[in-house]
Amino acid sequence: MKKGCKTQGPGIQRRDFIKTTAIGGLALSAMPSLAFGQKSVNDKVQLGFIGVGGRGRSHLRNILRRDDIHVSAICDIDPVAIEKTLGMISEAGYEKPAVYTENEYSYQDLLLREDIDGVIIATPWLWHTPMTVAAMKAGKYAGVEVSAATTLAECWDLVDTYEETRVPTMILENVCYRRDVMAVMNMVRQDVFGELLHARCGYRHNLYGAKFNPGVSFGEGASGEARWRTQHSLYRNADLYPTHGVGPIATMLNINRGNNFLTLTSHATKSRGLHNYIVNHPEGGPDHPNAKLKWALGDIVTSTINTANGETIIVTHDTNLPKPYSLDFQVQGVKGLTEFDGHKKRIYVEGISEHHQWDEMDEWLVKYDHPLWNKYGEYAEGSGHGGMDFFVDHAFVETVKRKALPPLDVYDAAAWSAITPLSERSIAEGNAPQYFPDFTRGWWIKRKPVFALSDDY
Ligand SMILES: NC(=O)c1ccc[n+]([C@@H]2O[C@H](COP(=O)([O-])OP(=O)(O)OC[C@H]3O[C@@H](n4cnc5c(N)ncnc54)[C@H](O)[C@@H]3O)[C@@H](O)[C@H]2O)c1
Repeated sequence: MKKGCKTQGPGIQRRDFIKTTAIGGLALSAMPSLAFGQKSVNDKVQLGFIGVGGRGRSHLRNILRRDDIHVSAICDIDPVAIEKTLGMISEAGYEKPAVYTENEYSYQDLLLREDIDGVIIATPWLWHTPMTVAAMKAGKYAGVEVSAATTLAECWDLVDTYEETRVPTMILENVCYRRDVMAVMNMVRQDVFGELLHARCGYRHNLYGAKFNPGVSFGEGASGEARWRTQHSLYRNADLYPTHGVGPIATMLNINRGNNFLTLTSHATKSRGLHNYIVNHPEGGPDHPNAKLKWALGDIVTSTINTANGETIIVTHDTNLPKPYSLDFQVQGVKGLTEFDGHKKRIYVEGISEHHQWDEMDEWLVKYDHPLWNKYGEYAEGSGHGGMDFFVDHAFVETVKRKALPPLDVYDAAAWSAITPLSERSIAEGNAPQYFPDFTRGWWIKRKPVFALSDDY
């Protein structure tokens, strides 16, 4: 950045910004507990949890830090997950919730309870839409993990049910709340890059540990996500996990709110990573039965989206090869661009940066730190994924409490999740262009941006 440019944002020091961006997880006891306005003394937000595996419990950990919630009931088919969850709730000093654990449909009984205002759904992907639809029909706000749907029919189920019931659903896309992402969104809104033309993003995460556990096993008898996630790679050649990358870009480009995804084309490489992992693993080898499997998922799936306002977005899915984690964000407008992520932070703005020179980005991130991070950054520390998980849970609880519409809604859930089936069809049809359904039924023209524009969530 040239000398003389303002570098400090209001009320936050550069080192604090970096600390809260990088931090992974503090001990619960080290965090400040959170006092938020209750509806009234005895009128807390009553929540149910459906799916209390790794992700469900990380939401619960954040929720238990608040004084304006009551966990009425939990549901999971895994007794170990139930036991761990009850332990967390008791350790936090809350009374034991009702437990639903009998079978895969026990969530339907949980949804009949009158003492639940909203549910957090953190189950395997195939359950997200049926559970969210059932929650809306039961009159409960649903906060659903990513992706929200796996087929176009499911995307429409979410939208149709919302329009029938008018019970809101929020897609819990935490990366929209990442500190650097929100600072860049702030730059976009303050016109630092001028009119936007192009963005890149993706999910580039070596998931060997999640896909095979223990050893090279997956499916029944395996542990954690290896019980269900890996099978999608066996059957589907698609961008299986688009929302961590595309969600943040969609908020910057006002998708569904003055702009829209129009078309998509996708390309996939051949598949090598999962086979190589099995063959080279000490518990695998070339004679292991899993070494004979033919994986449908290409190692790198690249999709290009055209928007109604004339931007392009390149989205990458890359989960089967050895590499450091990256969402590889790039945002480019007529005046400049930024490329940023954990491993890379650089910016060029015409008239401010030296000609042909990238600027270091830390000072820009401080200057454009989002007001919500300024307000809640201290609380967010230790909430998971560098603090962003606090914000997504906070937004969900506050919308339930206020009976408000969520900042990331059912139309976002449908449009972002639709990338999976559309990329699958494009690849299957020799990279043919696919049209996004207009899930807003034309209303994107009139809908106004809302994400992170409230002064509280
Ligand atoms: N936003 C993020 O940063 C993030 C991080 C991790 C996972 N996730 C998402 O969260 C979801 C859950 O992932 P996870 O890592 O917790 O997986 P997990 O396997 O650890 O947990 C899933 C839980 O759902 C339970 N379950 C399965 N079917 C059920 C049913 N019919 N009724 C009730 N419970 C059921 C399982 O027993 C398990 O405990 C996935 O969609 C994943 O993509 C998001």
